[in-house]
Amino acid sequence: MHTISRLRIAGLGIASRIIPFPTPKVFVGADSSLTLSREIIKSGIKRLTLITSAGMYKRGEVDLILRTLRSGGVKVDVFHQVEPDPGYETIQAGVKRLRETNAQAVFAVGGGSSIDGAKTMVACYANDCHPSKLIGLFKVRKMGVPFYAAPTTAGTGSEVTVAAVVTDKVARQKHAIIDPKLVPSMVALDPKLMVGLPPDITAATGMDALTHAVEAYVSTLATAETDALAMSAVAAIVANLPTAYRKGKDLKARENMAQASYDAGLAFTRSGVGYVHAISHQLGGLYHVPHGFANAVVMPYVLDRSMPKIARRLAELARGAGVGTIASDDQTLAEQFIARIRKMNRDMGIPETIAELRREDFETIIDRALKEAHGTYAVPVYFSFTDCHDLLMKLLAK
Ligand SMILES: NC(=O)c1ccc[n+]([C@@H]2O[C@H](COP(=O)([O-])OP(=O)(O)OC[C@H]3O[C@@H](n4cnc5c(N)ncnc54)[C@H](O)[C@@H]3O)[C@@H](O)[C@H]2O)c1
Ligand SMILES: [Fe+2]
Repeated sequence: MHTISRLRIAGLGIASRIIPFPTPKVFVGADSSLTLSREIIKSGIKRLTLITSAGMYKRGEVDLILRTLRSGGVKVDVFHQVEPDPGYETIQAGVKRLRETNAQAVFAVGGGSSIDGAKTMVACYANDCHPSKLIGLFKVRKMGVPFYAAPTTAGTGSEVTVAAVVTDKVARQKHAIIDPKLVPSMVALDPKLMVGLPPDITAATGMDALTHAVEAYVSTLATAETDALAMSAVAAIVANLPTAYRKGKDLKARENMAQASYDAGLAFTRSGVGYVHAISHQLGGLYHVPHGFANAVVMPYVLDRSMPKIARRLAELARGAGVGTIASDDQTLAEQFIARIRKMNRDMGIPETIAELRREDFETIIDRALKEAHGTYAVPVYFSFTDCHDLLMKLLAK
């Protein structure tokens, strides 16, 4: 069963060991986004486009960055129209602006949506194409201009991943553009940019980072390097997300979450994600359920269904994160780990079902999720149509 998918994954495993994965130069800590801005000035850039969302711009959260860049002689144009889950129209509007202003560099400041939107705009600007032409693996010929990012959620890890997610709003479907050229050259993990993130978005985006780390850890393409990154991310998220959720202004918790999200991104960009993402992308595409929220709700069910195959791996994560009793057997610890995820969700007001889910969409969701996962994600256990159907039944609001 699933021989072709397994062969494709083996091929991807070999490719991921041969193809160099670039990593950005990273600045970490309070005001590191200003340090990054000064580095941009030093590099001699004269015209830059800053890409963000309307909310970030209106609240003045990018003002200090703008002031720093402008006082260093950089002419900055701001494109602040990136919506959650950016669509083709927004990308094209951004590309038009990059052309009109003859941008020499692009700086994304925002959540995964702004960073992914900016990645795609830069790629379309450089390759003079429609975003849909870049969907899939290795379709980006060049990036053309330097690209920088400062995430304001922790998060997607997009600041270090080879991926950009774009949404076809007509087909109501999300698509991934995957290419190592999408990785920014410089990144700032600045907790000050995250203190205004509301608790519900802190919770959802933090659970996205946890999903990246867990899916990367149980992936069949996991390596010693991705294991270390994923383990450290899981421990940091379990320890810091509850604080970041309750005390949003706690800079240390925010910084630890930003680093964890980055590490989880680095892990999953190499060993991949799994069915949690394959299913949650469909919930995002069809119903606009926020990405992290969907992952948080779906994750415990996918882990349940993947037991006992992943018991040893989840037990390792539990021991590393101080979840459960260290001397317990693997099965018990793995169950305690999944129970902790459920508890974290409950404590942060994340439900166990998806209110928007409709039974008549099950077939579309399952077909698209299996198509996305099989041959692309190195899942530890293969799910059938029926497995997915059972899982969706559990997600359905009572
Ligand atoms: N490229 C990747 O590797 C990757 C990985 C996972 C997910 N994604 C994609 O990223 C997108 C989700 O990104 P996200 O979860 O970061 O959310 P987001 O970027 O969509 O942001 C969610 C909301 O939070 C607001 N926001 C962001 N930062 C804020 C701040 N500091 N203060 C106040 N409000 C703030 C945004 O304006 C938006 O309204 C999805 O499209 C998802 O599919 C990409
Ligand atoms: Fe994700």
